[in-house]
Amino acid sequence: MTILQAVNLDKHFGGVAAVTDLSFSVTEGEIYSVIGPNGAGKTTLFNMLCGYYVPSGGSITFAGKDLAGMETHQIAAQGISRTFQNLQVFYNMTVLENVMVGCHMRTRTGLIKAALRLPSVIREERQVREWSLEALTLCGLEHLADREAGSLPYGELKRLEIARALASDPKFLAMDEPAAGLNDTETVEMRQLIQRLKERGITILLVEHNMGLVMQISDRVLVLGFGCLLAEGTPQEVQNNPAVIKAYLGEDV
Ligand SMILES: Nc1ncnc2c1ncn2[C@@H]1O[C@H](COP(=O)(O)OP(=O)(O)O)[C@@H](O)[C@H]1O
Ligand SMILES: [Mg+2]
Repeated sequence: MTILQAVNLDKHFGGVAAVTDLSFSVTEGEIYSVIGPNGAGKTTLFNMLCGYYVPSGGSITFAGKDLAGMETHQIAAQGISRTFQNLQVFYNMTVLENVMVGCHMRTRTGLIKAALRLPSVIREERQVREWSLEALTLCGLEHLADREAGSLPYGELKRLEIARALASDPKFLAMDEPAAGLNDTETVEMRQLIQRLKERGITILLVEHNMGLVMQISDRVLVLGFGCLLAEGTPQEVQNNPAVIKAYLGEDV
């Protein structure tokens, strides 16, 4: 079943066409990756899916709902969560607190109720703590819950960012280069984590430069070149596609 569908998507910045007439659909439960050379339009596409950019044309529907005109928080409320390429971690908060921040989507407490410390608020806080610990466990970070986030090495910070994105209990997780800057061991841990998320039933959209990782874990891959769809298919199909080889090597084969 299709969970996300983009139809004839366009995005231009002044005279620059960053994404042109792009159509694709993501099936529920799959790992769908977007690759392409620098400047191909990957980040622009990512930002349109998350509501950071308004498309110049075309439409995006998620679970049958048109995302056009929705603010980022409204898109998040549909069950779409994202991680950032540049870490958005609160370094002087604990690991657990960082994840608890991500839970606010799932709670309904207003400021006044929180200030009065009603029993419902205390219950809710306990629930938030539980959800957050669960997300940390999934990301292999539960033993670090009380550590200051700033003391974690980079690989664990990248997983913390994912734990926070998971705390809102998303159906769909969009990840911008989760393996960027990771060493080989950390990349393997990241791959295993992404696979666990898939096993949990979360649909994953992955924008990633690490070709090895993309080819190992993706169900399908979309290849962008100059904002247009160059190819789409299984990792094996796109790897053998002449247009893709040409885009990467810059020559006819
Ligand atoms: N905010 C922006 N303003 C102007 N041009 C942009 C903006 N964002 C991206 N572009 C241009 O759009 C094209 C695609 O960029 P981008 O989506 O960042 O590619 P990628 O992430 O694949 O490297 C590039 O030519 C880039 O210079
Ligand atoms: Mg980019």
